[in-house]
Amino acid sequence: MKIDLRASLRAHNTFGFDVSAQYLAYLQNKSDVVEFISKAQSEKEPWQVFGGGSNLVLAKDLSGYTALMQIKGKSLLKETSTHFYIEAMAGESWHEFVEWSLNNGYPGLENLALIPGTVGAAPIQNIGAYGLELEEVFESLEAFDRLTQEFVTLNKSDCKFSYRHSVFKDEPNRYVVVSVCFVLPKQWQAKLSYAELEKAFAHQHSLKPIDIFHRVCEIRRDKLPDPQVIGNAGSFFHNPVVTNELYQQLKQQFPQLVAYPSGQQWKLAAGWLIDQCGFKGYKVGRVGVYEKQALVLVNHGGGTGEELLQLAEQIKKKVKEIFKVSLTVEPVIFN
Ligand code: EPU
Repeated sequence: MKIDLRASLRAHNTFGFDVSAQYLAYLQNKSDVVEFISKAQSEKEPWQVFGGGSNLVLAKDLSGYTALMQIKGKSLLKETSTHFYIEAMAGESWHEFVEWSLNNGYPGLENLALIPGTVGAAPIQNIGAYGLELEEVFESLEAFDRLTQEFVTLNKSDCKFSYRHSVFKDEPNRYVVVSVCFVLPKQWQAKLSYAELEKAFAHQHSLKPIDIFHRVCEIRRDKLPDPQVIGNAGSFFHNPVVTNELYQQLKQQFPQLVAYPSGQQWKLAAGWLIDQCGFKGYKVGRVGVYEKQALVLVNHGGGTGEELLQLAEQIKKKVKEIFKVSLTVEPVIFN
């Protein structure tokens, strides 16, 4: 296993923050994972494993051991008369895996096209977009469990998925995911619950998975900044879920409020709340709020994680003041 000393993490986080890792390891197979954790633990050093770095705010240099998950491979594990079971190793690019699944005739992941990051990171925050959440197509995953020092298989209920949440967020640093298996029905059905997709395809007969894939890519390219061009981590806050009582109060006070029913409660569009506070396109120093989507914070170049977190606090304070709603940060923060 290769380990670099004092390595820059700038190219390994999509905000492009220029912090360093004391030791940076590259995990290319399952035995690297075991070796990495036992090394960090025997030296009593802190450790963390990163995927594509697309959901991270690095606001300081990291001490101890940091690893980049780079285990590769994707395959059809098995098929039944009704379903395909496909698997990808944790270091695969999520988007490339989605493309591969479509090119090989295993549709069902197309709504999740172009999400930055790796396959191994996808279950951590139960990625979701355009009417589909990972948990709906998830079968199981394999992870190294630090507590038992063994590789374990976790099924859907073990992962305790909910909106942008899982057991991996409740117990950070317990598991290192090494592969993920998805189950996709052979009888494909288009998922068009997201209004823009429904509108786009309302009159289209013989709709194909690849059509949805292309439309989702277009919507994302239109609304969200490309991390290769402007540093960002996608949505910076969760869409807050509030009680019906608070929703009714807010709706009365702000008739334009954007919200969706979520069980007995309501999910508010955090982008709308932030937008209403006047932050869209706001810049402070070298960080700011994206001009086309107020839920996305950006590094215009040369900004720091600390500056970004200060901006996030400013936004949270204003949203709380105006709407009485607390925003929760989505990315994982190192500060
Ligand atoms: N809106 C505004 N102003 C803004 C942004 C949004 O008024 O600046 C309003 C609009 O009415 C818009 C609505 O908010 O229709 C919702 O916006 P959008 O459809 O862009 O979705 P979102 O709720 O902001 C969520 C996910 C995204 C995902 C999209 C599409 C979260 C935290 N974010 O964003 O996920 O791509 O839905 O499904 O749930 C991510 O997690 O990184 C991410 C990009």
